[in-house]
Amino acid sequence: MTSIYPDRETLSRAAANLFAERAVRAVADHGRCAVLLAGGETPRRTYELLAGEPLRGQVPWGGVHLFWGDERSVAPDDPRSNARMVRRALLDRVPVPAGQVHPIPGDCDPRQAADEYEALLRRFFAGAVPRFDLVLLGLGDDGHTASLFPDSPVLEERERWVSATRRGGEEIGRVTLTVPLINRADLVVFLVAGDDKATILREVLEEHPDPRSRPARMIRPEQGEVRWLVDASAARLLRRTNGH
Ligand code: 6PG
Repeated sequence: MTSIYPDRETLSRAAANLFAERAVRAVADHGRCAVLLAGGETPRRTYELLAGEPLRGQVPWGGVHLFWGDERSVAPDDPRSNARMVRRALLDRVPVPAGQVHPIPGDCDPRQAADEYEALLRRFFAGAVPRFDLVLLGLGDDGHTASLFPDSPVLEERERWVSATRRGGEEIGRVTLTVPLINRADLVVFLVAGDDKATILREVLEEHPDPRSRPARMIRPEQGEVRWLVDASAARLLRRTNGH
């Protein structure tokens, strides 16, 4: 389902409300809410809204467990760090227990970080199906999501939950959750805003390129749902719309 919002602010508000609603539902249903957070710039405002009233007081933070969908292999205080962005926009301002916040290690070899994070996730899910209650994802203008880049070997990964990878031309390494793990989610929400995403959004939603060239098209939860929350600028080239 695609929902179109007039601008980035209303998109962010809708995403923050959806986060709060899913957290309340998951904690009531099974005592916790496992969330996979997106990096990049688009979700920043959503996180800021969650850190302010009324949503801050609505989210059952004591039952929320936060994970990241990917990370750049940089120090925690590096401006490129996804964990740093979330810490400044959200974590420094809400009462989520520190033991329930699980950033991907950035200041070590990405292969070691991937192994450590996979072990952490396997402990967290303790033999049960690794089913995130909510996954937030962004969309790159080349069709990537998390750090699942076009035509990269990690797209073929079927066993591992977390892998080291690299973006072509980038000197730093990256760590990403894999397609099979993300596709176990209950709800995946893509947040896409801005005129520069209009072309890729139409390609991903309305054309049918090879999914390996547009990895966001590989995100199809087996028993879950995908929702696209987009602003009008990003949606301007869509032919089939159900605006909001
Ligand atoms: C990252 C993100 C990445 C991001 C897209 C969109 O680490 O960069 O995981 O997948 O979501 O590149 O980024 P923007 O929201 O900044 O456009």
